Amino acid sequence: MDAPLLPATTASPDETRAVGRRLAEFLAPGDALALSGELGAGKTCFVQGVVEGLGGNPADVSSPTFTIAHEYAARIPVYHMDLYRLASLAEARAAGLVEYFERMDGVCLVEWPERVAGLMPPGTDVLVFAHAAGGRRTISRG
Ligand SMILES: Nc1ncnc2c1ncn2[C@@H]1O[C@H](COP(=O)(O)OP(=O)(O)O)[C@@H](O)[C@H]1O
Ligand SMILES: [Mg+2]
Repeated sequence: MDAPLLPATTASPDETRAVGRRLAEFLAPGDALALSGELGAGKTCFVQGVVEGLGGNPADVSSPTFTIAHEYAARIPVYHMDLYRLASLAEARAAGLVEYFERMDGVCLVEWPERVAGLMPPGTDVLVFAHAAGGRRTISRG
């Protein structure tokens, strides 16, 4: 993925969503993004922006539940995985994570990718989300 807009600093959830919207233009089917960074750093917010940028409904994007993978309909389907509560690699496999990574029709956006480090597809782009001063967030390439 060639995305000239990073690194970015955002001062609000709206601004983080806007980065996701703009970055969506650079995504192609088969791409995978690892969204790294601590809780509350804006990963899910960014996913809302990507879904909106691809013509989907950002309101469909939810924060972690007990479902590992969510699918959102959009120009390019978005497969959103939140692995925060993942207990084991076996659980990831059982949830069909590898099959999602092998699907070449959509883009995979993975929160807490460290939980399945060895399973992420080759060529995955890593984005790092972090808290910064004054409630800001930074998004940079890993
Ligand atoms: N600049 C910002 N970018 C993104 N979220 C922000 C920002 N400032 C405050 N927030 C708040 O931080 C939280 C980010 O949550 P979320 O996107 O779910 O983070 P994560 O998925 O990384 O845990 C939200 O409650 C959001 O309103
Ligand atoms: Mg999240």
